[in-house]
Amino acid sequence: MAKAWGGRFQEATDARVEKFTESISFDARLADCDITGSQAHARMLAKVGLITDAERDQIVSELEVIRGEIARGEMPFRTELEDIHMHIESRLTQRLGDVGRKLHTGRSRNDQVSTDIKLYVRGAIEHVDELLLELQRAFVDRAVRDVEIVLPGYTHLQRAMPVLASHYWLAYAEKFDRDRQRLADCLKRVNISPLGAAALAGTSLPIDRHETAKLLGFADVARNSIDVSSDRDYLAEFVFALSLVSAHLSTWAEEWIIWFTTEFGFLKLPDKFTTGSSIMPQKRNPDVLELIRGKSARVMADVSQILILLKGLPMAYNRDLQEDKLAMFDAYDTVVACLELAPAVVIGAELRVDRINEKLDDGFLDATALMEYLIKRGVPMRTGHETVGKLVALADSRNCRLSDLPLPDLKEVCAVIEADVSSVLGTRNAVAVLQSYGSGGQAPVAEQIAYWQQKVSLAE
Ligand code: ARG
Repeated sequence: MAKAWGGRFQEATDARVEKFTESISFDARLADCDITGSQAHARMLAKVGLITDAERDQIVSELEVIRGEIARGEMPFRTELEDIHMHIESRLTQRLGDVGRKLHTGRSRNDQVSTDIKLYVRGAIEHVDELLLELQRAFVDRAVRDVEIVLPGYTHLQRAMPVLASHYWLAYAEKFDRDRQRLADCLKRVNISPLGAAALAGTSLPIDRHETAKLLGFADVARNSIDVSSDRDYLAEFVFALSLVSAHLSTWAEEWIIWFTTEFGFLKLPDKFTTGSSIMPQKRNPDVLELIRGKSARVMADVSQILILLKGLPMAYNRDLQEDKLAMFDAYDTVVACLELAPAVVIGAELRVDRINEKLDDGFLDATALMEYLIKRGVPMRTGHETVGKLVALADSRNCRLSDLPLPDLKEVCAVIEADVSSVLGTRNAVAVLQSYGSGGQAPVAEQIAYWQQKVSLAE
């Protein structure tokens, strides 16, 4: 089969080179975007008079036929045809002859492939955004459901201060919201049309790049043809945004894996989301969570792959760039696979409230509330800190809780303490007094829940 670029070559390409240089095995999934881009290009060519309206109609409708054939798996892929662009164009030419040979007027595969990728990433961002919204909804639903449950809050994985369970769930809603914002921001750079930059320098033909941009729904046209032929910043950004999604998923998974241990015993996971051991009959393993944690490594590696791919490239297009798609597809597929499962796990899990409550008063979760009680009575913060430190040591030595210390003992360490101290002692009381904006107490959490309920339902 004659190559699109065969003119100056005297011998056929070595079969090993064809196998080595092909990208059809992974860029076939750009077919839809490629056809949409080519149809817009053909419409523009007709508008500026480079092809006739009749030729445009032939091209546009034949491309539609090819779209269907590819979707139904009726187009055989062949390494000699390198990539999806050549497959589609050669099929078009096979059917339309010289009319098909006009499609590539005023463009190159360099701007074409970037256009395809941008169209693809635009859809991918939309899809990931929807999945992230679903996950946020799952956490918001849980926040409503678990609003009565108090959990120990940790720093350094040591018991620190108590919060409502809902506070935890909404913390995840926040993280995934920043992920959505990052994707939306990335979309601004994605949504600039490269088409018509041609190989690198543009063209002497009277093409109308603004027209193709408009037809393809791009917000603007890239100003500099040499820049845009080499630009893959948008892919690095997209994959980085995905890597933060997976970092968030991974920390959530890790937390729940810990909570699911016998040692913690905070969490019940539904049987359908756990797996057994082939030798130990008692085992129930959180494999889904472990794989969400594990797969995040791939997405993070994909960011490195793209950056390393880009770092040594002189302008403009270099064939290295063909490898960009592998990292992007891998990151996208991996994140989508995780996000498709995550909401069901979030909704399906149960907090083991009895187990949590049993130990809720362990670990002096009310120490900070006691210190703030002293501050409210005029004790300087540092003094209060030291005082409560002493009381914690005292309780620790008696193997009891702060609330078990008799009032005279408390007063002996600090005279301002009165009987009303009982209103801040104990984990539940310590959570009830949290009142600052964004904190984990009842009123601030109720405010957050109201915010999120509105936000996720408005997003319908
Ligand atoms: N398959 C190529 C890629 O994905 C398309 C662009 C080829 N351009 C070229 N000058 N050989 O990057």
